[in-house]
Amino acid sequence: MKRVLVTGKGGQLATGLAESLPALGFEALLVGQPEFEFDQPATVEAAFRDAAPDAVINAAAWTAVDAAEDDETGAFRANAIGPELVARLCAARGLPLLQVSTDYVYDGRKGTPYSEDDAPNPLGAYGRTKLAGEWAALAVNPKTAVFRTAWVFSAVGRNFVKTMLAVGAQRPELRVVADQHGNPTAAPDLADALAGVLARIRDEGWRDAHRGVFHMAGGGYASWHEFAEAIFAAAAPFGEPRPVVHPIATHEYPMKATRPADGRLDQRKLHAVFGVALPPWQQGLERVIRALHP
Ligand SMILES: NC(=O)c1ccc[n+]([C@@H]2O[C@H](COP(=O)([O-])OP(=O)(O)OC[C@H]3O[C@@H](n4cnc5c(N)ncnc54)[C@H](OP(=O)(O)O)[C@@H]3O)[C@@H](O)[C@H]2O)c1
Repeated sequence: MKRVLVTGKGGQLATGLAESLPALGFEALLVGQPEFEFDQPATVEAAFRDAAPDAVINAAAWTAVDAAEDDETGAFRANAIGPELVARLCAARGLPLLQVSTDYVYDGRKGTPYSEDDAPNPLGAYGRTKLAGEWAALAVNPKTAVFRTAWVFSAVGRNFVKTMLAVGAQRPELRVVADQHGNPTAAPDLADALAGVLARIRDEGWRDAHRGVFHMAGGGYASWHEFAEAIFAAAAPFGEPRPVVHPIATHEYPMKATRPADGRLDQRKLHAVFGVALPPWQQGLERVIRALHP
């Protein structure tokens, strides 16, 4: 197993995979819009023909959580129908598929970290469409592993870290939600972990235990408020300003989509099955802050 087709070129995760996969001996074949477009199935089929992959990582997705509320059909095409086609093409070729998903499939009301056996109950359109994509990928391709991740950030694209640094450069005081909890996840660490999973599959062959759902996110937990404070602390040595961050409640910062209040992910299954674990999220944050200050 050598050639890995990676969808979502230009996205946070795919950019990380472009480095992580070669580091473990894989060839990363990245495809992205407009040449690769879920809404045009012929482009997806062509990508499989051209790449002739040995495995596939589907990192492409509609990730705009609030915009999905206004166009659930569009989000469904990218997050469910697209993965279904990718899985079908994988099944026809006998390829392993790593499908990336989200903690937003949970309603966040459990009160303790979620395990993969807990029932999903998405609160919004993004979570619903991603859950449909999980089901489709698992139903259509027997060699599918789904990885639910959370709060992804990196030096590229739009994410909470870059937003905080941009806003913090303009305002001496910020208000950030303190009653939502999750796993901040550095995209380069996520990419390393996915490459590690694929290396395991390459080395030991596909096993029944590889099929199913796994949690894969930064180690440890935080609120958005704690995460924001950590961002400014990590960036201060690089000359970034250090604004005061006031904790607020979710209802004080209304957004279109309802987010799970507590989407913390227990990741023991990932380690037990694949021998993979991400570093603590604070280490991932330092890695990304360094990348933002070359
Ligand atoms: N970001 C997060 O906080 C987060 C949290 C939990 C889970 N996840 C999951 O993690 C995975 C990677 O996310 P990410 O943060 O790397 O996302 P990202 O930076 O938004 O990248 C997603 C990529 O998908 C592409 N894409 C969107 N619609 C498409 C379509 N119809 N056809 C083909 N490509 C399309 C985008 O292309 P364009 O840029 O050209 O539109 C982009 O390159 C996704 O499965 C996501 O659901 C992300």
